[in-house]
Amino acid sequence: MCGIIAYIGKQKAVPILLEGLRQLEYRGYDSAGISVIQKEKIITLKAVGKVVELQNKIGERDFSGKIGIAHTRWATHGKPSDKNSHPHGDCEGNIFLVHNGIIENYQELKNILIKKKHKFLSETDSEVLAHLIEDFNKTLNFKKSVLEALKLVRGTYGLAIINKNEPDKIIIARNGSPLILGIGKDEFIVASDASAVVRHTDKVIYLGDNELAEITADDFEISNIKNKIISKKISKLNWTVEESKKGGFSHFMLKEIFQQPEVIGNGLRGRVERFLLEESVPMLGGLRMVEKRLRKIKKIVIVACGTSYYSGLVGEYMLEEYAGIPTEVEYASEFRYRKPILDSSTAVVAISQSGETADTLAAIREAKNKGALTLGIVNVVGSTIARETDAGTHTLSGPEIGVASTKAFTTQLVVLALWTLMLGRQRSMSNVMSKRIAQELKKIPKLIEGILKKSKEIQKIAKKYSSAKDFLYLGRKYNFPIALEGALKIKEISYVHAEGYATGEMKHGPIALIDENFPSIFICPKDSVYEKNISGMQEIKARGGKIIAIATVGDKEIARIADDVIYIPKTLEMLTPFVSVIPLQLFAYYFGVAKGYDVDKPRNLAKSVTVE
Ligand code: G6P
Repeated sequence: MCGIIAYIGKQKAVPILLEGLRQLEYRGYDSAGISVIQKEKIITLKAVGKVVELQNKIGERDFSGKIGIAHTRWATHGKPSDKNSHPHGDCEGNIFLVHNGIIENYQELKNILIKKKHKFLSETDSEVLAHLIEDFNKTLNFKKSVLEALKLVRGTYGLAIINKNEPDKIIIARNGSPLILGIGKDEFIVASDASAVVRHTDKVIYLGDNELAEITADDFEISNIKNKIISKKISKLNWTVEESKKGGFSHFMLKEIFQQPEVIGNGLRGRVERFLLEESVPMLGGLRMVEKRLRKIKKIVIVACGTSYYSGLVGEYMLEEYAGIPTEVEYASEFRYRKPILDSSTAVVAISQSGETADTLAAIREAKNKGALTLGIVNVVGSTIARETDAGTHTLSGPEIGVASTKAFTTQLVVLALWTLMLGRQRSMSNVMSKRIAQELKKIPKLIEGILKKSKEIQKIAKKYSSAKDFLYLGRKYNFPIALEGALKIKEISYVHAEGYATGEMKHGPIALIDENFPSIFICPKDSVYEKNISGMQEIKARGGKIIAIATVGDKEIARIADDVIYIPKTLEMLTPFVSVIPLQLFAYYFGVAKGYDVDKPRNLAKSVTVE
């Protein structure tokens, strides 16, 4: 949500900032802006729309400035417009800043500043910060002014600020919104996301909450909000530049769909093998230090948002059926405002690709306060949720750039399946059973490869239904969450109305919608609820509804009922979501592309939602 990049060093800042903005664009893309310090002046340029619009505005102009800040926006306060775009400035044009997050008490602060004759140009909450710093800067130096301003602020921020009065530095600060300080050779690159840093350096410092850094061209100093200097560990980024490119695919989303065999393989390698041995209870590395507590866990609560929430729902079926632990899945945004009943025998599990989703982070903090064990299933190493949970397992899917999540989802399922094996073995699961599941899990990458080979066939079906304005996605048991995820995918990137439902619930309402123009997609593998799904299908057919079925290879019966069938390979019932979700990802992708949409950057969305 909003991308921030800042540069200070020996090179010209503008090309580096623009390149960084392109990398960060998936975080928000309704407007972009840049400020650069040049010959004791600050030059600011902004443009509504994607980063390319800003680039066009800059055109051939050659900026020599070596210090600058830039931002790509996902609007929260005020519509996308030049005046609402960042960087925001003070009254005199001395101080400019880019901000990610929300200043909750901005109106209150704005009223005070207006009384002090400050002139505001935008409707944003962020602009208040520039004026607040300006106010303190009348008597205090730059750093102290920022510190004093932040003391008055309620809300979240990732900030990068420049000041004409102290033109040799950038100040950055964080509370609740991620900021990474990249340490290059004779230069520093600050970004809200590793993808914009990785092409310059792999040495980074993750700024913590209530921390601030003062950065000059050859040094930096980190302090806390009380102005106490602190020393921080330098970490190594585990992403490569190659991973942040499309690699010959027309979209990141398609690349990421096709990467699934590889990244699922990465998530399994070195982990799944231990469940094939005769060991007593194999432990996953990241959970070893909480092994004893895990044995005593009586309840699991999974908290997550969006696609990660749906992987949690699959996890609920797995954990209850095979590990025998009562499991609940909660929208993180709801969990934080309820009065959840938790104690030390509850494990609260945050599932998050980015590890920065504000609601999921808040839920984990709440759980920690209540004494629960907190665990993370997170992709981004070094992210806030990864750092703040007691223990966890990384999903190892590599950077996911497409806003609609695909490979992050299936790698979350990998971890949930492995946790099921481990927690199951701690309890009553037999060694024979864990071996059987582990063996089948190992086959998943190959099975997905087989489905991906049929992408052209899925593309044809997507084209055939391209005039549909609604879809009903239906599934039962393990594939009920897949119905929800399939519907979410098509909503996100094709802007058509779609609903995911449990097949059994369809007759209690949604069937009223069905006619020949409202197709249903049934996820109907040969599993323990196959017959029930077939009955549902007959009910839809009897009402003239068109049916696309996702069915197990060799199922001829289904071809007689459904209008179109996409076959998936056979696997254990618990593992069918791995294979059933792939055709739905491809269907949504081709559907969106056929409509001419930018599927990597769907309207109104952002990859990482760091505001409430
Ligand atoms: C946003 C993204 C979704 C994602 C959700 C949760 O809405 O567009 O793709 O599933 O956030 O994100 P997380 O990073 O916590 O998995």
